[in-house]
Amino acid sequence: MRGWNSLTMVHVAETLAGLRASLAPWRASQRIALVPTMGALHEGHLGLVRKARELADRVVVSIFVNPAQFAPHEDLARYPRPIENDLKLLKAERVDVVYTPSEREIYPEGFTTQISMGGPALGLESDFRPHFFGGVAIVVAKLFLQVRPDLAVFGEKDYQQLLVVRRMSKDLDLDLEIVGVPTFREADGLALSSRNAYLTPEQRRIAPALNKELRDIASRARSGTALPALEAQAAASLLSAGFERVDYVAIRAPQTLERPREITGPARVLAAAWLGKTRLIDNVEI
Ligand code: PAJ
Repeated sequence: MRGWNSLTMVHVAETLAGLRASLAPWRASQRIALVPTMGALHEGHLGLVRKARELADRVVVSIFVNPAQFAPHEDLARYPRPIENDLKLLKAERVDVVYTPSEREIYPEGFTTQISMGGPALGLESDFRPHFFGGVAIVVAKLFLQVRPDLAVFGEKDYQQLLVVRRMSKDLDLDLEIVGVPTFREADGLALSSRNAYLTPEQRRIAPALNKELRDIASRARSGTALPALEAQAAASLLSAGFERVDYVAIRAPQTLERPREITGPARVLAAAWLGKTRLIDNVEI
């Protein structure tokens, strides 16, 4: 299927054949950018779309809630899917094609291929969501091969994901540029996320502590305090601020995510913590 969504008049491709037909006339002479998303779009996603618009002639946004990156106990079923509103927002950004494949279009009957990565995919998120980067890598590789964009835009919000996608694209000669965009935040520092919609008013009040602790640890990282002690202090502060559980607070090298002994050059501090059933992640530059 390929055509115009009747409510929003944005060009929607629901199948790979439709997508290819839309892109074919542009391919020879125009730069094509892809912004992969799972929908429930907010200003962070739209910031990526604007970046894509700046860098390319044509912008494709994919919306696909990828089952492969959710474990059975995770929030796949309740993940928000406000598709009509998403299409309206993308129309307003003058997106050229919105690609909304079905699960069968991405994972045809009998699908079995996996991508298993080391390097930046090890540790942090993988310690708590071992299925996650395998699922991200396979869907992003498929989207890259289906769209064959000149560039793709990702958010630093999901910093480890950005590094994983960069590494995979290099390793597999996917021949496109990966552009990273800084995190868009609420005025109180909370990183915009589709999952913020799950927060109760009380949890929403506590949530900005995550960014506050990361900025605090970033400002103290060069003070000479041992890094594990800083990480432990930040985790304890998050718990006393009202987070129920802290998966990790980790100071890492910005490109490899290796654990530094001490901080001499640039570094990154990354964290994941739980408010009720909602898991928030954030990271800041040191
Ligand atoms: P999703 O969570 O929908 O995010 C889509 C893109 O938007 C990602 O590149 C993410 O880093 C970026 N993004 C989200 N919130 C942001 C913010 N506050 N500031 C800047 N960028 C932000 O990430 C995924 O989907 C999926 O894993 C996907 C890559 C689509 C593969 O399924």
